[in-house]
Amino acid sequence: MTITDPTQTDISTSEDLLDGIRSVLERGVENGACHPSWAAAALDILAEGASLASDEGVYAAHIVHRSLRAEASKDGPPVSRIATMRAPDLRVWRAGSDRQALPDRTPEELRAFAGLVSERRSTPMYGSEPLPVEHLAGILRQSFGVTGFELGYQRRDIPKRVGASAGGLQSYDCQIIVNDVASLAPGRYSYDPIENDLILEEAGDLRLPLLDATIESDFIVSAQAVLAITGDFPRVSWKYGTRGYRYMGLDAGIVTAHVYLAATALGVSVNALAAFADDRVNNLLRLDGKEQFVQLLIPIGTPPGPKRQ
Ligand SMILES: Cc1cc2nc3c(=O)[nH]c(=O)nc-3n(C[C@H](O)[C@H](O)[C@H](O)COP(=O)(O)O)c2cc1C
Repeated sequence: MTITDPTQTDISTSEDLLDGIRSVLERGVENGACHPSWAAAALDILAEGASLASDEGVYAAHIVHRSLRAEASKDGPPVSRIATMRAPDLRVWRAGSDRQALPDRTPEELRAFAGLVSERRSTPMYGSEPLPVEHLAGILRQSFGVTGFELGYQRRDIPKRVGASAGGLQSYDCQIIVNDVASLAPGRYSYDPIENDLILEEAGDLRLPLLDATIESDFIVSAQAVLAITGDFPRVSWKYGTRGYRYMGLDAGIVTAHVYLAATALGVSVNALAAFADDRVNNLLRLDGKEQFVQLLIPIGTPPGPKRQ
């Protein structure tokens, strides 16, 4: 296979460079050396890199993030086709493996936790009662809360959080869009885990802009509150560089598990939601989309049906 070396072409601008690489990739696709979706993804990433080139402090993670946030599942199949598609086999190991049976009995000390875990489900259904503020507070505290301070990283004020995080650097924060929570005015709030209070950022009903920013997720408008887990890249990149971007997703996943379990314990409906246009949600949350950005939305609320005693 003959490929023109893009460094041998006359390159004076990033556009020339992109054109050179594009022609190499196109030829690779033509002769089967490169999968079309790989070529398209590579070009997207390069184009993002070129458009960010004049920014200061551009990390590889910003380029990846910019190309990923363009649309939800940009290179996946159209949502309308998924209902007719068969998922891969999700079993971990199959017949014939060398197996060692494990005891079925749950140790006594684990019973309460096991009960909670077995009850946990995603439930995108919300009733009409307001969410008690104690329920919101309990979920926030058990997911994002601070239980004290410790020495670390040449500081005396490193918060100890209820959730594990890479390097203890707690790359996440939480904003709350309040729709119907007892004693709280509708609006957008930030949670301060140290003071355990809410900071009103913007008053008003934000359900419609939130609905506009999400994809096929109408249930978001009936949730009494929506938690937005946001990520803060500089908190991890000073230590981990670009790899910190990966840790942010893991940290957000751990916090999400806390939210689910706390909500389950309280009988609160909860359903994670990642089907959204990042730029729109970032705008709504007043985040720059580069250093700070939305990771996940979690609508929560009172379950439908008669009021629980
Ligand atoms: C990271 C993440 C993103 C999710 N995004 C969506 C979403 O956009 N829309 C939705 O209806 N459910 C979403 N869910 C919920 C999953 O669909 C749900 O967890 C899955 O179907 C398994 O059901 P279970 O939570 O009841 O076990 C998401 C869950 C996770 C963990």
